[in-house]
Amino acid sequence: MPVISLVSSKGGVGKTTSAVVLAGEFAAAGRKVVLVDADPNRPLEAWARLRALPETMRVVTDDSAETIIDTIEDARAGADFVIVDLEGTATDRIGFAVARSDLVLIPLQSSVLDAAEAAKSVKLVRQMWKVANREIPYRAFYTRVPPAIRERTARDIERQFSDAEIPTLPATLIDRAAYRALFSLGGTLHELESADVSGLNGARENARNFAQTVINTLRGGAA
Ligand SMILES: Nc1ncnc2c1ncn2[C@@H]1O[C@H](COP(=O)(O)OP(=O)(O)OP(=O)(O)O)[C@@H](O)[C@H]1O
Ligand SMILES: [Mg+2]
Repeated sequence: MPVISLVSSKGGVGKTTSAVVLAGEFAAAGRKVVLVDADPNRPLEAWARLRALPETMRVVTDDSAETIIDTIEDARAGADFVIVDLEGTATDRIGFAVARSDLVLIPLQSSVLDAAEAAKSVKLVRQMWKVANREIPYRAFYTRVPPAIRERTARDIERQFSDAEIPTLPATLIDRAAYRALFSLGGTLHELESADVSGLNGARENARNFAQTVINTLRGGAA
């Protein structure tokens, strides 16, 4: 079953948030999801303590280069989706996780082209192609997109990246209080209630569209 890794050479761009959002959508669709917390800061472990997780979701912690491949493969055997959250600095562990992935997602937190930042992560992924002896699919995508520029179409963003020859996900995650609330209240967008946070419906719609795009990309394979 597919393994999706969240990778970026830059910290704080939204890897952990995107991992939880994706996992929440897959679980809401009744799929078994394992979130692998491979960040030594253990953000997912902390998040999972806040609220009971959906029945079909679990969090596994492993921040060791020695065991991360086995942890990912064990998770794959028992789940419909495995989502690996990694920290921002380059380590062997990140390389190993990438080498075992079916799709690497590279979040970028910018409304303008940040091809240089994405290029570093792309370089890492492409290096791992040689290790894994296959073309590991990867996509960059924008997170925390201000709602005011939502009308900027995925096509515009894709065009920007095509110059830099970086394949992009035709979906973005917008900046929403509901995404921040996941880490103060715990759970997924489906456990939050409208009284908890504003704009919940918009976030849910955005998350559903994002997850569907990821599924379509997994089905489509390499760029
Ligand atoms: N779509 C979003 N809308 C609103 N806030 C967001 C969104 N994505 C991320 N954030 C916020 O941005 C901050 C960084 O996000 P997050 O922890 O997901 O990044 P990260 O890439 O995992 O960071 P690190 O490199 O430290 O692991 C958090 O405060 C989070 O709540
Ligand atoms: Mg993180």
